[in-house]
Amino acid sequence: MRIGILGSGLMGGKLGTIFARAGHDVTFSYARTRQKLTRLAHQAQGNARAGTPADAARDADALLLAVHWSRIEDVLAQTGDLSGKLILTCSLPMNEANTALVIAHTSSGAEVLARKLPKARVVSAFNTVPSEVLFGVFESRANPPRPSLVYCGDDAPAKAIAAQLIRDSGFDPVDSGPLHIARYTEPFALLIAQLAYETGAGPELAYRFERFVS
Ligand SMILES: NC(=O)c1ccc[n+]([C@@H]2O[C@H](COP(=O)([O-])OP(=O)(O)OC[C@H]3O[C@@H](n4cnc5c(N)ncnc54)[C@H](OP(=O)(O)O)[C@@H]3O)[C@@H](O)[C@H]2O)c1
Repeated sequence: MRIGILGSGLMGGKLGTIFARAGHDVTFSYARTRQKLTRLAHQAQGNARAGTPADAARDADALLLAVHWSRIEDVLAQTGDLSGKLILTCSLPMNEANTALVIAHTSSGAEVLARKLPKARVVSAFNTVPSEVLFGVFESRANPPRPSLVYCGDDAPAKAIAAQLIRDSGFDPVDSGPLHIARYTEPFALLIAQLAYETGAGPELAYRFERFVS
């Protein structure tokens, strides 16, 4: 699959590397320096390159949007037309200080994004795990049980691709329903961040849902 990374920081840099190592063709874009993108592409040790957001979007089967909420407009202004594209967003609608959601309860960042891009197919995923756990989960992918990863969206084919990328990253995808369920998954991400960063137990945290059937 051809995957464009829009935002090559903690999440985009690591997930792009994982996607490349899983055999996908990855273009890293949107960092403050071109050298950072080139280094990521080199270190990914797969089929990866550095490019502009327009390069990342061109011919992409999926785009990972991984920027701070305040950078969304800026990066989207550089991609060109995203009609029909699958946008996998891990971006949370956080305030500048990263202390609170600026959209919640009656909407979600994912829904606001989908309204900005009515012709794109938005799936919310990867926002409920800290970046620090991503390589560990990927490296443990052959050792079940896998951790869960919730995702949601309104377009079934787009969700099937998202589920495949979640699987390729070492997680067990959990279909949580339509995009408006991001109203629940985005605050859940803040619970995970609380457990990862505020308990002293370390940020390498993932979660797993189990159903007990009697
Ligand atoms: N980090 C996590 O564990 C985590 C977990 C779940 C969800 N999220 C969400 O995922 C999204 C990405 O988070 P992150 O931690 O990956 O953020 P990050 O490390 O700050 O990465 C953001 C990317 O945007 C780039 N960028 C910022 N300002 C720019 C500018 N003016 N011009 C060009 N590029 C610019 C950064 O460039 P540089 O690389 O040069 O800094 C970086 O590559 C956020 O919405 C966050 O809420 C994060």
